[in-house]
Amino acid sequence: MKSLFVILLLAGFSIPSSSFPYVYFFVGENKTWEEAESYCMSEYTALAQINNMENLTAMVKTSQAGYTDKAWIGLYATLVWTWLDGEQPAFTNWFLGHPHDSDNVLCASIVSGVWTSGLCSQKKSSICFNGINYIPVWTALTWMDAKAKCKAQASSLAKIPDLIANAAILATMTAALMPEAWIGLKTTQLWQWSKTSENYAYRNWQLGQPDTVNGGKDCAAIAVKNGTWTDEQCSAQYPFFCYDVYKSRTTVMRMTIQSSTNMENPASSDSLLQQLNATLVKHGVTHFRMTWKKVSVKQTQESVITTRYKSHTHTHTHSHTTCLL
Ligand SMILES: *[C@@H]1O[C@H](CO)[C@@H](O)[C@H](O)[C@H]1NC(C)=O
Ligand SMILES: *[C@@H]1O[C@H](CO)[C@@H](O)[C@H](O)[C@H]1NC(C)=O
Ligand SMILES: *[C@@H]1O[C@H](CO)[C@@H](O)[C@H](O)[C@H]1NC(C)=O
Repeated sequence: MKSLFVILLLAGFSIPSSSFPYVYFFVGENKTWEEAESYCMSEYTALAQINNMENLTAMVKTSQAGYTDKAWIGLYATLVWTWLDGEQPAFTNWFLGHPHDSDNVLCASIVSGVWTSGLCSQKKSSICFNGINYIPVWTALTWMDAKAKCKAQASSLAKIPDLIANAAILATMTAALMPEAWIGLKTTQLWQWSKTSENYAYRNWQLGQPDTVNGGKDCAAIAVKNGTWTDEQCSAQYPFFCYDVYKSRTTVMRMTIQSSTNMENPASSDSLLQQLNATLVKHGVTHFRMTWKKVSVKQTQESVITTRYKSHTHTHTHSHTTCLL
């Protein structure tokens, strides 16, 4: 007697995403960095992130034959306020409306105990710190020159880690009748991957890059010819590389099959399971585990098969319509 089955195929994975490789895609259309990033985000994950040499080699291979010029990758710079020792300020005492939001690198000065931000090329007095005392330097200098001048005096442009230091500097300036002075705070470029700011351990800049000639907000391009990176104006137009990450997902497949198997008999249901297994393997579904349970007792039997197999986010649900037996 033939009976009808409905087979539900549940496919998905539970492997941690860190163990999934990146897949790269080359898009041979000229776009600005931001246009390229939106394109990659809608079609894939984001502009390409490169964590190691192996990633770089795999990515460059996806480039269309013949294209050797520059292409965008997912690395971009933002400006962040940084003390000379590389620390980002935990304590700040900005004047109302400061710091200014700017595409240019800015430097900080102190006026009546509050901080203001402005172009580093302005000439101002400065406050050095030699580890014990704050030293007012009257000479009007650019921020860079003020930094050098402090260094020449075995000190450095003052860092203000807390309110106590801020009060001490205010007292020094008040006593010296100094209205304004540079402090050791300036915006610097922070490069990060667009999707995950982590993993900037691997870098492959061309010699002398990034050179910040375009101001603070720069984007990185790769010379496809040799894999080295340069900083470019984000508004420039280049082809680009996107990447995607294997992700977990669940797919449900439904199949109707006919067979004379008696599902009540464990031996014959096991045998059917084995045949299903073999058929799936034959159809290229690998690395899966299959279990089933009967959900209907009438002529129609339902089996739930759980499989685990590698799949790509952009591979859409397959439907197996094959008659298995
Ligand atoms: C992209 O721009 C470059 C330089 O302007 C040009 O030579 C190239 O043909 C453009 N590529 C496409 C696909 O439009
Ligand atoms: C990229 O690097 C990661 C490790 O961060 C690795 O797991 C992955 O397989 C690499 N992918 C490619 C395509 O090289
Ligand atoms: C890579 O190619 C760029 C662009 O042609 C070139 O300026 C640079 O010197 C090359 N770097 C290396 C390490 O070959």
